[in-house]
Order: sequence, then C-alpha cells, then structure tokens
Amino acid sequence: MTASFWQTLQRPIIGLAPMDGVTDAAFRALVDSTGHPDILFTEFTSVEGLHHGGVKLLNPLIRHKTTTPILGQIFGYTPEAFYKAAFIVSEMGLDGIDINMGCPDRDVAKKGGGAALIKTPSFAQEIIQKTKQGASDWAQGKTLQEAGVREHICTWIHTYREKNALELSERKPLPVSVKTRLGFDKIVTHEWISTLLKMEPAAISLHGRTLRQLYSGFANWDEIGRAAELAHQTNTLLLGNGDIQNKRDAEEKVKQYHVDGVLIGRAAFGNPWVFTNEEVSVQTRLKTALAHCELFEKLTPDLHFLSLRKHLAWYTKGFDGSAEVRDRLMKTKNIEEVRNIINDV
Ligand SMILES: Cc1cc2nc3c(=O)[nH]c(=O)nc-3n(C[C@H](O)[C@H](O)[C@H](O)COP(=O)(O)O)c2cc1C
Repeated sequence: MTASFWQTLQRPIIGLAPMDGVTDAAFRALVDSTGHPDILFTEFTSVEGLHHGGVKLLNPLIRHKTTTPILGQIFGYTPEAFYKAAFIVSEMGLDGIDINMGCPDRDVAKKGGGAALIKTPSFAQEIIQKTKQGASDWAQGKTLQEAGVREHICTWIHTYREKNALELSERKPLPVSVKTRLGFDKIVTHEWISTLLKMEPAAISLHGRTLRQLYSGFANWDEIGRAAELAHQTNTLLLGNGDIQNKRDAEEKVKQYHVDGVLIGRAAFGNPWVFTNEEVSVQTRLKTALAHCELFEKLTPDLHFLSLRKHLAWYTKGFDGSAEVRDRLMKTKNIEEVRNIINDV
C-alpha cells in the first residue's frame, strides 16, 4: 500500500462525516476554516450517475483550496462504474476515495448498493478491488477518456481544472476507504469488518448502528471498539461514528474504545465549532451564517440558494429572539436578503 495522508495524520483523527444535502463544498470550506477538523468528506455521489454522464453530480466533488484532506465519497452497485468514478475523484483533485457501504436509502439498497453490500460480502470486495484498480490505473497515467468516462464529464473536469489552476504535479494512487454500519438487519461486526479488512482499505469509518436501526436508539460503541481491535491487527485505520456531541465527547470515545479517530455528523449542523469546544456569541453565529452563504455563492454558483435555508435555520436556534430571526431568514430568496436581515439584528 502506498503511503497516503492517512499515515501522516496525527491521531486521533477527528473528521466531519459525509452528509448528503449538508456537507457540500461551501459547508466543508466553512467547517474547515472555523473548526479545523482533520479530514472532510464530500456528500455521496452516485457512480452510476457519473457513468451515465451526469455533470451535475460533479458539484459535490468540488474542492475549496485547503491542505485538509478531502475524501470524495461514492456509492453504487456497478463495479465498472466504481472503476471510472475512481478516475473522476482523482482528476477532481481530491485526496481520497471513500466507498459508501452504509447508506440506508431504499432505492440504493434495492439495487444492491450502500448498506445492502453488507449482505453480499464478495461483491463488496469486488467493488473495493475495482475502485483501487481505477485509482492505480489513473496514477499510472491512464486518461479519463481511456477509462471510458463520458466526453462531457471529461470536458467539464478539464474546464474546472483550468479555472481553478489545479495542477497535477505527481500522480499517486488515491487511498481507498470504506464507510459502513454494524450490519444490515443484525449486528455482524466481526464477519463484516474482517471481510473488509481482507481488501486492505486505508481506513474504515464505522457508524455504530445497523441499517435497520437507521438513526434510532444509541450508537453501539462496544461494537465499534471490537472492530477497532480487529483493525489494529492490520494497517487499516478504524474511525468510530455515531452520536458524538462535541470535541470532549470525541476524545473520550477515542480513549475508551481505542479507535484511531472519529467522525462527527449531526452535531455539526449550524455548529462548525463542534470541533473546537469553543462557546461562541450570537453575533459570531450570525456572521458565520453569512460567511457560509458567501462561500456557497463563490464555490457553487450553479446550486440553488434554497439549499442554504436549512443551514440558516440551524445557525439561528436557541437565543433570545431567534425564532423571529429564523422566520425572516426562512423567507429569503437570495444572499442579499440574508445580508440585510443579519446586519439588522
Ligand atoms: C442528513 C444526513 C445525510 C447523510 N448522508 C450521508 C452520506 O452521504 N454518506 C454517508 O456515508 N453517510 C451519510 N449520513 C450518515 C452520517 O455520515 C453519520 O454516519 C450519521 O449521521 C451518524 O453520525 P452522527 O451521529 O455524528 O450524526 C448522513 C446523515 C445525515 C443526518
């Protein structure tokens, strides 16, 4: 296995979990500059969608300028499409490829992708192998076109790279990691994690619930600890995930369950300071909400403003007069209106 950023990161690794509809390029940039997590994940992107030439699906893979490693997360059920997606994530200038094997979406699971891969271990292994092969062939100099990526995706990426002056100095195979759950309808940590470890992924991020549990109950950290014991016999890192509320909580989990790190998801909603233990004033929160909108405009002008509203609602919770500010923000249609309201508070 080629050395990658995973080996050089200081332990414990504390990262922002991938969240569809939330961890877009603007939110990642904001969390990066405010909370300084060690790694960031994109939202998941469908490999079949990329395979069929969906250029809009490249938006989640846009990166802001940073030295913090960003993992492009992909999901699907077609090994050949994973192979091509590995080329696309590499060419987009991201730092790692993460395969989603935990998504509970019914449509994804019905076709055998996401968490359904837990039920088909050898197929899951084939998908990891194909993704690694794609990363490796790209590093050897094979082009997007030679890999069979659709022409308009190639053109989009080419323009994106030029516009952002993304230079490819040295091609290295991106590390491949997996994010998954404890099982599909029952806990199968030992078998499942052992299956994944055989493929030598750089890291496994483990959400301590089965798919059937979705988000109910509590994450089972004892099982995450068992997975960490297995991973420690290999070169694969194990990150735990589930219900972490703040940095102190993250540090305690690392100590108690001997994981190499953790991912924080929902506790980061409207709260990029979750990575710092910092208490911030209402003014700081509002200023940050505006900074978030400005990053959104700069990084992803093609995306619709409305997707910012949920973030605005999260930033404006729990202070005197917050309901009124929130109500006003929920009616905004553009960033100028947000700016006027926030400057008015
Ligand atoms: C709105 C939302 C979207 C999510 N999207 C993804 C995703 O795209 N990929 C993924 O691997 N997990 C996804 N997850 C799961 C989270 O990464 C994480 O595993 C889960 O929320 C548990 O962590 P937490 O308790 O810290 O939130 C999503 C979770 C939420 C709440």
